[in-house]
Amino acid sequence: MLASVALKQAGRTNVIAKVASVTQTRSMHDLTLRKKTGEPMIKYGMGGRSSTNGHIATVFGCTGFLGRYVVLKLAQQGTQVVIANRDPDEARHLKLAGDLGQVIPLDFNLKDKDSLVECVRHSDIVYNLIGRDYETKNFTFNDVHADGSRRLAEACAENGVARFVQVSAMNASEDSPSAFLRSKALGEKYVREIIPDATIVRPGTMWGHEDRFLNRIGDNDGWQYYVNEGQTKIRPVSAIDVAQALNIMLTAESTMGKTYELYGPKEYQVKEIFDLAREISMKPLPIRAIPNTVTKLIATLMDKLPYNQMVSPDLIERMKLDDKITPGALTFEDLYMKPVALETVAIQFLRRFRSNAVFDLPYEKGDGQIQKGVYHLID
Ligand SMILES: NC(=O)c1ccc[n+]([C@@H]2O[C@H](COP(=O)([O-])OP(=O)(O)OC[C@H]3O[C@@H](n4cnc5c(N)ncnc54)[C@H](OP(=O)(O)O)[C@@H]3O)[C@@H](O)[C@H]2O)c1
Repeated sequence: MLASVALKQAGRTNVIAKVASVTQTRSMHDLTLRKKTGEPMIKYGMGGRSSTNGHIATVFGCTGFLGRYVVLKLAQQGTQVVIANRDPDEARHLKLAGDLGQVIPLDFNLKDKDSLVECVRHSDIVYNLIGRDYETKNFTFNDVHADGSRRLAEACAENGVARFVQVSAMNASEDSPSAFLRSKALGEKYVREIIPDATIVRPGTMWGHEDRFLNRIGDNDGWQYYVNEGQTKIRPVSAIDVAQALNIMLTAESTMGKTYELYGPKEYQVKEIFDLAREISMKPLPIRAIPNTVTKLIATLMDKLPYNQMVSPDLIERMKLDDKITPGALTFEDLYMKPVALETVAIQFLRRFRSNAVFDLPYEKGDGQIQKGVYHLID
C-alpha cells in the first residue's frame, strides 16, 4: 500500500518536473541573431506547429499549387507565416497549416507598393512564388514576373527584410523564344540588382495532386495532344521536393546569393510520360501529335476566350523547349536532398483516372517503393 502511494507520488513529481522543463525551455541557444540584420529571433516551445521557431515568413503566391506546400512546411515547424493573397476565400484553407494565430492572411495588390510593404515589414524572409502561365487584360508576363518582382524586392530592401527567395523557372533566359521565360529572367535580374544576396530558385515542371501537368495528361478522355511530337525532353520535379528545398532555405543562410535549379532525377521525353500515364491509368488515351503550327493556331484562338486558363501560344512555345541545366548551377544535392523520380510515385496521382473495374489493382513499379517508405506525401 505504502509502496504504491510512494510510486504515485514519484510519478506526480515526474509530471511536475516535466511541466516545469516545458515551461523553462528558453536558454541561450534559443536566441539566434540574423547575420545580415542582427535582428534577434527567439525560439519558444518544443518544436513543431505549436511552437515558435522565431522566423516570420511572407509567402506571395501562397494560393497557388506550390504555395500551399511551402506554407504547410513552414508552419509545421512553428514559423509565423504571412499569407499574402488577393482573395481571402482562396487563402482561407491555409490557416489550418499552422496553429492558431500562426498563419496570418494579408491582402495585397502587386501594383500597390504600400500593400506590399504592409505584407513584408514584420518578416525576416520573403518568398516570391508569384507566377502566371498566361497573360490577362490586367497583367502581362512582365507585369507579374519582372515589374512585380522588382516592386516586391524594393519593398523588402527598404524594410530590412533579411532574406528574399525568388521562384523563377528552368530555362529562364532573356533570349528565350518564350515571353514567359524572358520575363522570368528579367525578374531574376531585377531582384539580383536590388537584393544581391537573394536566393533564386528555378524549378522544372512540377507535379503533384493539384498540378497542371499529370492532371492534364490523365484527365482528358476525349483526346490528347502533344506538341513537338512528344520529343521535348523535360525533368519533372515533385512540388513537395521543391517546397522542402524552399523550407530548408529558411534557415540555410549559405543559400544566400545563390541560384538553384531544382529538377527531377530523370530526364523524360514528353511522349514517355504520356505512355507512363496510359500504363498507370490503364486506359488507352488517344494521343495525337498535332503539327506545331496547328497547335499554336488553336492556342491563339483559345487565348481570345474570356475564361481560357488552359493554353496560350506562349505555353506552346515553352512546351517545345528542352530543359537545359545551367552548368555550375546548384541543385537538390547541394541542399543534401534526393528528389523523388516521377514513375515511382505517379500512381498516387494517376490512380484516380482509372476506371472502377481496375481502380484497386496495384502498380508494381510504383506501389512497392511507396510501401517501403521511399516517399511520403504528407510529411
Ligand atoms: N507549376 C510548374 O510546373 C512551374 C514550373 C516552373 C516554375 N514555376 C513557377 O513556380 C511558381 C509557383 O508555381 P505554381 O504552379 O504554384 O503557380 P500557380 O499555381 O499558378 O500560382 C500562382 C500564384 O501566383 C499568384 N499570382 C498570379 N498572378 C498574380 C498577380 N497578377 N498578382 C498577384 N498574385 C498573382 C496567384 O494568386 P491568385 O490565386 O490570386 O491568382 C497564385 O497564388 C510560379 O512563379 C511559377 O511560374 C512553376
